[in-house]
Amino acid sequence: MSESPPRTDIHVEESPPAVAADAAEMFVQLAQQSVMMAKPFRVALSGGSTPRLMCGLITSDTFRHEVPWDNLRFFFGDERWVPHSHRDSNFKLANDLLFSKVGTDPNNIFAIQTEGISPDEAAAQYADTLRTEFNIAEGEIPEFDLILLGMGDDGHTASLFPGTDAVGERKKLVVATYVDKLTAHRITLTAPVLCAAREVIFMVVGDSKAPALEQVLQGPLNVNEYPAQLLRQTQGRVTWYVDRAAAAKMSA
Ligand code: 6PG
Repeated sequence: MSESPPRTDIHVEESPPAVAADAAEMFVQLAQQSVMMAKPFRVALSGGSTPRLMCGLITSDTFRHEVPWDNLRFFFGDERWVPHSHRDSNFKLANDLLFSKVGTDPNNIFAIQTEGISPDEAAAQYADTLRTEFNIAEGEIPEFDLILLGMGDDGHTASLFPGTDAVGERKKLVVATYVDKLTAHRITLTAPVLCAAREVIFMVVGDSKAPALEQVLQGPLNVNEYPAQLLRQTQGRVTWYVDRAAAAKMSA
């Protein structure tokens, strides 16, 4: 974990569309920078509702022609334990709103397998995929160019939910986790991977997020209760795009 103070930028916008627009602008800028550095742009996508807004923007006429799509490699920060055709699948979300809209080369999409193997096997397989695609050895941590994250009302991020063992995982890159309150399995990147990213963008909107957001950004460190606090230890820059409703309980 980083020794130097991490860089955290917080932007409060009037509305969810404004939050999505900020995130889309930053996504495009970061993707374009990767082309200038002649390297692939490896991004991990999140699930939930906020990516819907952003995907709609980056595939719109406003942005789609500015994105070096062939240079992007798409990964997932987490996945629900459902078939990729299921309405709750993060892969389906990305495929419907992004990949199918811009014709992403399937070779540039690295989905988490959710059928035909166990959750633990899927987690181990995805960790192998990361090692291969990032060309790293066992024990090394992949450094994503960008990880997109949301935050739940309970302060979870990716599928690192409060009170679960997954929050404390510091060796594995990917774990399977059973979330009691959802009565569901999830596959998730772990804190070491999230914290190794060069750039992390959080999109958080809505008044239901206000209590947790105040704790995550301004409360005492308690990662087991507020897993999104894990990103306080990031190596890179964490940019929070939040709307006024979500920021309502934060002190100036
Ligand atoms: C998921 C996400 C999850 C999400 C939060 C916030 O698979 O659901 O990875 O961590 O980002 O639950 O969701 P919203 O974007 O809907 O607020």
